[in-house]
Amino acid sequence: MIALCALNGRGRPITRPLEHRLEVLSNLCAPYARIADVGAGQGRLSRRLAQNGAIVCATERTRHGVIELQHYLKDTAISVRQGDGLGPLVSFPAVDAVVMAGMGSVVIQHILEQRHQLSYQPRFVIQVVQGRIAVHRYLRNAMARVHDAHLIRERGRIYATWIVTFPVTSGPTGDWDSRGLLQEFCADPLWPSLCGHEAEIRQNRLDRPLSESERRRVQQEFQYWQHQLHWAILDKP
Ligand SMILES: C[S@@+](CC[C@H](N)C(=O)[O-])C[C@H]1O[C@@H](n2cnc3c(N)ncnc32)[C@H](O)[C@@H]1O
Repeated sequence: MIALCALNGRGRPITRPLEHRLEVLSNLCAPYARIADVGAGQGRLSRRLAQNGAIVCATERTRHGVIELQHYLKDTAISVRQGDGLGPLVSFPAVDAVVMAGMGSVVIQHILEQRHQLSYQPRFVIQVVQGRIAVHRYLRNAMARVHDAHLIRERGRIYATWIVTFPVTSGPTGDWDSRGLLQEFCADPLWPSLCGHEAEIRQNRLDRPLSESERRRVQQEFQYWQHQLHWAILDKP
């Protein structure tokens, strides 16, 4: 793996390999010439995308975040912008892809809701570790078209990654059908691990006090994941 050279808060170089999940994202972004990295953090992914030849806009929500990001990226040609979600992109030339990585599902949904502010339809590259199902449901309800879906394991966690576009107008124009939760990942080699993980989360929840309706829902989801796990294991060559 190639080491990155960013600067830490004291201006000293940080040399550590790019996280596997970001490495995968940079490969998935290879087809795109102009990319926005929304909520770029320390700009590690932005830097790699720029090294790969993309024109990159990296954003952070707060002034403090942007000052840090500018510092980390000061030796690059990356445009750094401040603002909430897609806000900074409204006044920026159109990008082919918007990447959102390492944010919670609530923030991701909040940012995706802002897509109507853009006068064009970029691809969205979304990566979450928590709130996979919330994001999946949001995409399904918004009739998003899933172009690609991957599971990535890093340090014992499973990250779900989607590449999606949204229809210009709402309506049944997406690719979604009535298949079950997260089925877009069912061909992924990590699918059995994800099914086991999701079943275990629900089993633990069932050990805690729950309202009757909540218990019924969690029980149904537990059975769904157990069933998926069962078939995933049976299907293994
Ligand atoms: C956990 S970091 C992830 C950084 C980087 N994307 C990564 O995957 O390593 C999440 C970043 O998103 C930023 N963020 C959170 N909400 C945001 C919003 N509404 N708009 C822009 N950035 C936001 C935070 O300030 C934080 O730097």
